Amino acid sequence: MDDHPEITELLKTPEMRYNAGGRWHSDQMYTPKPAKMTMLYAREIPEGRGDTMFSNMYLGYETLSDGMKASLQGLRAVHNGDSKNHPTGKTRAERVQDGTIHLPQIDPGKQQTISSHPVIRTHPGTGRKLLYIGGHTERFDGWTEAESKPLLDYLKAHATRPEFTCRLHWAENTLTMWDNRCCQHFAINDYDGYQRRMHKIMVKGDAPF
Ligand SMILES: [Fe+2]
Repeated sequence: MDDHPEITELLKTPEMRYNAGGRWHSDQMYTPKPAKMTMLYAREIPEGRGDTMFSNMYLGYETLSDGMKASLQGLRAVHNGDSKNHPTGKTRAERVQDGTIHLPQIDPGKQQTISSHPVIRTHPGTGRKLLYIGGHTERFDGWTEAESKPLLDYLKAHATRPEFTCRLHWAENTLTMWDNRCCQHFAINDYDGYQRRMHKIMVKGDAPF
């Protein structure tokens, strides 16, 4: 926003069909220092629609077998924020250009959109381990995509089992702050034909370890 550059307005008009964040992910996982937190403030909400789901990445880790935990320890994964497989079929730069995503302060040509992070991450605040994968995760570092896919598919499904999730019903003026270091989120797209307008602030984070 012009008078508050730290705030990004997210607008989906009744005509728009693309829904940003419509898959499980953690914000900016593809950057070297992903956002610590995201703050989302609801300005206009279609009643009873446009909920957001959250999944607990601590539980995703703690419920793995000891054997799987041991196998994943020390592995790194590559996260891609400009995948050729994006549902819109457009590159990140094209999506910034046509307004599908809003990154007014960042030159998309300069933003790093591929990064490698530990699969088992330690939260710097709590000291707890968690399963740090999400929708941007493409492969294990040093593995091919084909080699990675079966295990990644399993882990992505495991990490978002219903018992690890909650669902937020927005109302106007709801402010939600979530910790991207230990949860994934999913923006449900059940409001085609309605308008939804949010204000977003990303809080600077550190390199995962
Ligand atoms: Fe997101």
